[in-house]
Amino acid sequence: MSVRIILFTGKGGVGKTTSAAGTAALAARAGQRTLVLSTDAAHSLGDAFGRQVGREPVEVATNLWVHQVDAQRRFERSWGEIQGYLMSVLDAAGVDPITAEELTVIPGAEEVLALLELRNHVVSGDWDVVIVDCAPTAETLRLLALPEALGWYMTRVFGVQRRVVRALRPMLSRAAGVPMPEDAVFDAVERLHADLEQVQQILTEKDATVRLVLTPETVVVAEARRSLTTLSLYGYRVDGVIANRVFPEGGGDEWRAGWVAAQQAVLAEVRQSFADLPIWLSGYRADEPMGVDALAGFAEAAYGGDDSLAIPESGEGPLTITRTSTGAVLRIALPFAQRQDVDLARHGDELVVTVGSYRRLLSLPAALSRHTVSAARVEDGALQVRFRFEQEEQP
Ligand SMILES: Nc1ncnc2c1ncn2[C@@H]1O[C@H](COP(=O)(O)OP(=O)(O)OP(=O)(O)O)[C@@H](O)[C@H]1O
Ligand SMILES: [Mg+2]
Repeated sequence: MSVRIILFTGKGGVGKTTSAAGTAALAARAGQRTLVLSTDAAHSLGDAFGRQVGREPVEVATNLWVHQVDAQRRFERSWGEIQGYLMSVLDAAGVDPITAEELTVIPGAEEVLALLELRNHVVSGDWDVVIVDCAPTAETLRLLALPEALGWYMTRVFGVQRRVVRALRPMLSRAAGVPMPEDAVFDAVERLHADLEQVQQILTEKDATVRLVLTPETVVVAEARRSLTTLSLYGYRVDGVIANRVFPEGGGDEWRAGWVAAQQAVLAEVRQSFADLPIWLSGYRADEPMGVDALAGFAEAAYGGDDSLAIPESGEGPLTITRTSTGAVLRIALPFAQRQDVDLARHGDELVVTVGSYRRLLSLPAALSRHTVSAARVEDGALQVRFRFEQEEQP
C-alpha cells in the first residue's frame, strides 16, 4: 500500500506550517489516516494546533496525528561515531580520498534523523497520508540532497575500506597511522546506508511531491523559482504552489491599494513562472489560522475544490533517459536554469551536475557505461546530455 507524501517548503515565515497543517486537517476530514511531521526545530506545529506535541505522535483530531521530530535523540551516538571516524580518515596523514568536486555535503545528525523518522512512518503501514512541514528552503534542500550524497560517501569511503580492512587491519594500523574502524562502525554505516537508500526511493516515487509556499513578494518568488530548479535537479516532483497572504481587493486606503496592486503584479509573474503547476491562492486573513477547524478552513479555501491529495498526471519524473540510434539522451528538467548556471563533468560512471551552489552526483546506469558524452546543452528548462556508444577499438 502506498502512502501519499507531501512536503511543504518555502522561504521563512511564508506559511509552510499553516499550509502543511491545513492540508493534513483536510485529509483527515476526508477519512485519511493522516500524520503531519515537522523537521523544524521550532515547535510551530504544536502552536498551530494549539496543542502540546511531544516526541511521539499525538492525536489532535480524528485521523489526525502530529509528530515533532526530536533531533537530539537516540540517533546521535551512533552517527557521532561514524562521523568521527570519517573525519579521522580525512585528516590522517595527507589522505584526502574525496576531491573537492565530489565533496558535497557533510550532513548533520538532525537531518538524518528526520529522514529516518519519515521513513519509519511511511513503512509502518499506519498512515494513508504523511505531510511534512519542512524548515525554510535552504535547509530543506540540504535535507533532500542528503540521502544520495551520503550514500555516495558510504560506498566510497567505507565500501572500499571494509574489504581491505578485514585482511589488513593488524598490519595497517601499525604501519600507516590511518585509524581503522571497528566492525561496529561498519555495521552502523551499512544499516544507515540501506535506510537512506530507502528514504531516497520513497521520496522520489510518484506519490511523493513537494509544494512550494510563497507570498506575492519579489524576493520570495525569486527564491521559490530557485528551489524549483534545485528540487528538480535532485529528482523531486513539485506538484503545486500555494500563494499565501494575498490581500483581498477593494476598499481601504491608498496604502492598501498600493499593496494590492503590487501583489497582483507579482502574482502575474508567479502564474507565468509556474505555468505548468496549479497555483492555489490563499487570502490574508484577519487573524492567524490556529486550531484544527481554522486550519482545515484555510486549506479548503486555498485548494478551492481541487483535490489536495491528487497525484500529478505527468508520468515522467524530472530525469529521463531515452535511447537513440547512436546512443542515448539523458534529460534532467531544470526549470529556469540558464546555460551559465549549469556545469557538467564526468568521472567514470558518475555524472557530476552542478547548478549554482547545488551539486548532484548521478550514478550512470550500467547501460551507459560504454558510452561517451558527445554533447550537452541547456535548453527550454532542461539539461540534455547526449551519449554516444563507443565501439570496442579493433586492433
Ligand atoms: N493567510 C494568512 N493569514 C493570516 N495569518 C497567516 C496566514 N498564513 C499564515 N499566517 C500566520 O503567519 C505566521 C507564520 O505562518 P507559518 O508559521 O505557517 O509560516 P512558516 O512558513 O511555517 O514559518 P517558518 O519559516 O518560521 O517555519 C503564523 O502566525 C500564521 O498563523
Ligand atoms: Mg514553520
